[in-house]
Amino acid sequence: MADVLDVIQSRCSVRGYTQAALSDVEIKTLVEAGLHAPTAKNTQELHFSIVSTDSKVIEEIGNDLNPENPLGFLYGAPILIVISGRDDFGWSAVDAGIAVENIHLAACDLDLGSVIIGCISGVLHGEKKEYYQRLLSIPEGYSFQIAIAVGHAATSKEPHEIDYEKNVSTIK
Ligand SMILES: Cc1cc2nc3c(=O)[nH]c(=O)nc-3n(C[C@H](O)[C@H](O)[C@H](O)COP(=O)(O)O)c2cc1C
Repeated sequence: MADVLDVIQSRCSVRGYTQAALSDVEIKTLVEAGLHAPTAKNTQELHFSIVSTDSKVIEEIGNDLNPENPLGFLYGAPILIVISGRDDFGWSAVDAGIAVENIHLAACDLDLGSVIIGCISGVLHGEKKEYYQRLLSIPEGYSFQIAIAVGHAATSKEPHEIDYEKNVSTIK
């Protein structure tokens, strides 16, 4: 098992996958990593939809996103985990962001690749919102927050450079 700090410093978004499926245990471990994430006031309000990327709903979302390359947004990953949050809770977006990063880091620990997927937000909040919510089992009163595609990595890249001086202020 890798050290948490090692995973944080070496992780990257993966944009190419093999066709190998994930095991049920791997998928459950990933979703549980999301469920273990902290939530504001310990509300634990997030909902997770585990979606096979060869499903009809993915094809439809992809078509609405980009009819010329409907599955391009998934880079060949076999599953997409869609995280939705309560519309009446002001911390849903933050909670979902923390949960999705937990899943991203857990995927690294399992030697899997993953990439956070926000580009479908417009489609899932658009005129077919209710239709897609039904197909994705997003509960009533909830909305899409973020998603993450996961699979066995076929590509790799270096972690991004960080610029401490630019992004950090120290106040004494
Ligand atoms: C909120 C959010 C939404 C993102 N949406 C997408 C996306 O739709 N497609 C994609 O390829 N990458 C997406 N990414 C991944 C970023 O592009 C990636 O984290 C960034 O380029 C830095 O690369 P790295 O993760 O390899 O360090 C998203 C990341 C975040 C945090």
